[in-house]
Amino acid sequence: MERLADFNEVKSLVEQKLDSYFNGDGLEKAMKYSLMAGGKRIRPILTIKFCQAAGGKPEDGLVFGCGVEMLHTYSLIHDDLPCMDNDDLRRGKPTCHKVFGECVATLAGDALQASAFATILGEADNLAPNKKVAALYAAKTLAECVNEMGMCKGQYLDTVANGTTHTVNELVEINMNKTCALLRAACVIGVYAAMGHVDVDESCIAAAEEYADNLGLAFQIRDDILDALSTTEELGKPVGSDENNEKCTFMTLLGKDECERLVIDYTDKAKKSLLNGKWARNTEFLSGLADFLALRKY
Ligand code: IPE
Ligand code: IPE
Ligand code: MG
Ligand code: MG
Ligand code: MG
Repeated sequence: MERLADFNEVKSLVEQKLDSYFNGDGLEKAMKYSLMAGGKRIRPILTIKFCQAAGGKPEDGLVFGCGVEMLHTYSLIHDDLPCMDNDDLRRGKPTCHKVFGECVATLAGDALQASAFATILGEADNLAPNKKVAALYAAKTLAECVNEMGMCKGQYLDTVANGTTHTVNELVEINMNKTCALLRAACVIGVYAAMGHVDVDESCIAAAEEYADNLGLAFQIRDDILDALSTTEELGKPVGSDENNEKCTFMTLLGKDECERLVIDYTDKAKKSLLNGKWARNTEFLSGLADFLALRKY
């Protein structure tokens, strides 16, 4: 109960801050449309909560978290384009390209990606001299997690493979890049955001990475289950998208029961990973968030 109140409080902090960006005309309208269309805001919440666990204040992680959410929104706009998953609904609303056309949606994604880095690096201006380095670390982490070795690699492998089959190990490898990499950035950046205030123990970075990787695998398998078995109304995005694209997912290979078992396994591993960090504060929220996501309905 308390945890839910905390979740909603952090989420509304994020929503408010996100709403302060992109208030101009033209391209900014398309960026804002997708950025403010809803969404669970899991990534910025992770950034803020890892920052707190490592000894920082929520505000220390807020702007960095907004940068991560901008990057996530770009990835969703491009993921929905006809050349990728070709989906018409996202977060319960028509996708960016359905409203603004493919050209503007592509550019809105491009600009959100650049703005993610500008937002994170721009935060250095507001940081005390001993904290400025956190913005550099955050930007470098984000870049490395989404480049051709990270999320983009995952999206590449995921999309070019449509119509073919994978082994379970190959799918794990794809999802580690496609989904886990950005979650890893969100969590690790949260730890960096606490730096300067406190001496953050190295073990926290490794624990954040391990948590994110396991959470991400559980998250994507749950996403694949919902794509196959939910309803479009509940999910806010078209169910059956994976089947339409002849995409081999965990559901294709293993079916519902085994997928649900794997979600629980990876969620347990994520929670256990937290025990490996020497945190300044307790990590109860992060543990609870993993459980909440394992059972999510959208
Ligand atoms: C969707 O991410 C893309 C995947 C990695 C499966 P989310 O499920 O976090 O999407 P929003 O932000 O809540 O819309
Ligand atoms: C995409 O995975 C993850 C991204 C990196 C955007 P999906 O294609 O399964 O995500 P949804 O189901 O469209 O949200
Ligand atoms: Mg996709
Ligand atoms: Mg998709
Ligand atoms: Mg999906």
